Amino acid sequence: MDRSRITIFDTTLRDGEQSPGCSMNAPEKLRMARQLDRLGVDVIEAGFPISSEGDFESVRMIAAEIRRPKIAGLARAHAKDIERAWHALEHAARPRIHVFLATSDIHLKYKLRMTREQCIEQAFEQVRFARSLCSDIEFSPEDATRTDLEFLCSVCEAVVEAGATTLNLPDTVGYTVPSDITRIFSAVRERIRRDDVVLSCHCHNDLGLAVANSLAAVEAGARQIECTINGIGERAGNASLEEVAMAIRVRSDAYPYELGLHTEQLYPTSALLSEITGAQVQANKAIVGRNAFAHEAGIHQDGVLKNPLTYEIMTPHSVGVPDNKLVLGKHSGRSALNHRCEELGYRFTRRDLDNVYRRFVDLADQVKVVEDTHLLRIIREEMAMGVMPDLVEPTRAAGASAHAATS
Ligand code: KIV
Ligand code: ZN
Repeated sequence: MDRSRITIFDTTLRDGEQSPGCSMNAPEKLRMARQLDRLGVDVIEAGFPISSEGDFESVRMIAAEIRRPKIAGLARAHAKDIERAWHALEHAARPRIHVFLATSDIHLKYKLRMTREQCIEQAFEQVRFARSLCSDIEFSPEDATRTDLEFLCSVCEAVVEAGATTLNLPDTVGYTVPSDITRIFSAVRERIRRDDVVLSCHCHNDLGLAVANSLAAVEAGARQIECTINGIGERAGNASLEEVAMAIRVRSDAYPYELGLHTEQLYPTSALLSEITGAQVQANKAIVGRNAFAHEAGIHQDGVLKNPLTYEIMTPHSVGVPDNKLVLGKHSGRSALNHRCEELGYRFTRRDLDNVYRRFVDLADQVKVVEDTHLLRIIREEMAMGVMPDLVEPTRAAGASAHAATS
């Protein structure tokens, strides 16, 4: 195993799809899977084949068409689930069966009504069965992070002996903090001591810690991160793929690992998911939110215009965001206003710009964001009063008709 390489396991189409309002039909999942392939993820978890005919069909279609990444299908630790998953995956170039069984006492007692001994036996038997069908088997002890650590290690040992090739330790309820993750992953790693078995993390975001926990897991030896586009998933969601990826890329000094991702596909992937599900991304979401590269404060705008490095730790281009956006509002200064006027095709003298700026500030007090159309109205009115700006080549879309609008 190459320990400097992190495997990105995308579960947008399985765990992500379980979030309210994010369900997708088979053709929609296939469209999304093609884009995930373009993005360069290593594993696509395409669905949970026994859960519905639709999910079975989605996994089958994706497995038949998408050849580069591994395609995973989820199964409970039951022979019927595993057979169904395998049937859906049978035409995949690189199939993976992902078997799970809860291991925490709270799940064993109230949900599964089984003892620890029964749990370990079932995990062993079903992983062995899955391995008789497929050479790539992932096992997840559900609620791993709330499982007694000694018992968790014993389950992990048993499933590795039965043939599991990836051991995923889910923080199913998003309860864990980074120091817990370090302790749990280090203990399991110490106990298993197998270079051919990949440790994986799968963190939910109930306390807003999914990305931080995933990075802690990597530091403690995990080499696969399970995550979703836009962080969608059960309740508060899963670790967000774009955040995990850019934390590793931007802070390569702290996380010196290789990723197979083409990060300039992050924004197009996020946008496609929003288009398909109708679930919009919050404006201030890191990396892909509408405001992630927007600057409104005058001092920031002035700095970014002089050198983007003053306020940007990555370029919008590196994550596929079309260009950086200077939002014109009441905190903006003359420098940004001048820049936008020129983008719209008008270059003012210093004195005329002062007049435009005064009117701009009055308007910005009333509206939250001054749009290009507002600015063009101000410019038109100034020109009607005799101001004569130089006409320059417009560089913004709205500016294409700017001169016509003011003539
Ligand atoms: O959160 C979880 O425990 C899961 C498992 C099925 C991996 O999604
Ligand atoms: Zn999950």
